[in-house]
Amino acid sequence: MSSHYYSQKPASSGKTTTIQTYQLGNRLSFKSQSGVFGWMKVDKGSELLLNNVDIPIKKGLVLDLGCGYGLIGIALAKAYTKVNFVLADINELAIKLTKENCKTNGVEDNTEVCQGNIYEPVKDLKFSVILTNPPLMAGKKILWEFVSKAKDHLEHKGSIQLVVPKKKGLKSMQKMLESVYDEYEVIAKGSGFWALKANK
Ligand SMILES: C[S@@+](CC[C@H](N)C(=O)[O-])C[C@H]1O[C@@H](n2cnc3c(N)ncnc32)[C@H](O)[C@@H]1O
Repeated sequence: MSSHYYSQKPASSGKTTTIQTYQLGNRLSFKSQSGVFGWMKVDKGSELLLNNVDIPIKKGLVLDLGCGYGLIGIALAKAYTKVNFVLADINELAIKLTKENCKTNGVEDNTEVCQGNIYEPVKDLKFSVILTNPPLMAGKKILWEFVSKAKDHLEHKGSIQLVVPKKKGLKSMQKMLESVYDEYEVIAKGSGFWALKANK
């Protein structure tokens, strides 16, 4: 079977880099490696999502589903220190990097990192928010599970907030959201991406 960034054990040339970035008022540093999504630089879609998310700051648990090297969940955990975050991904290399990056950025106290397929590693948990820059390359079946099964893992009135490229995947994502949730809203547009939010 061929290896992709969304494989459990991705092929990696072993090349690493350190991404220095400023997000939500904090200077952050991420170790990244070939074999994880967008390993050379901050993805514009992820950046749009993390700068426009709606996080209930007083309670709840937030899931960064498909966390990659940890950009979204770690940047938010640094900014919202009273909120607890779970970062999950199928890619074992991504999980190793995310664990290191949580330490480097000092967010170990309000983060948990777990490896597994879609919601399997968080099967007993409910979230106030599920965030994702979904793996479009993994195909519609996986995307459908990201979106439809979120409902089983959201608290009452919890939301899924996600980002998709306008030219690739937006229409089909809109259809998926419409068929699973009563309605959805557009929370941001920029750099060729749309960020969308649907409530349970
Ligand atoms: C578009 S990338 C976003 C990565 C990261 N959030 C970022 O902003 O850089 C999608 C992520 O979903 C992960 N993924 C793909 N299929 C998955 C699955 N079945 N279960 C969990 N995560 C998966 C990939 O490994 C990848 O890290």
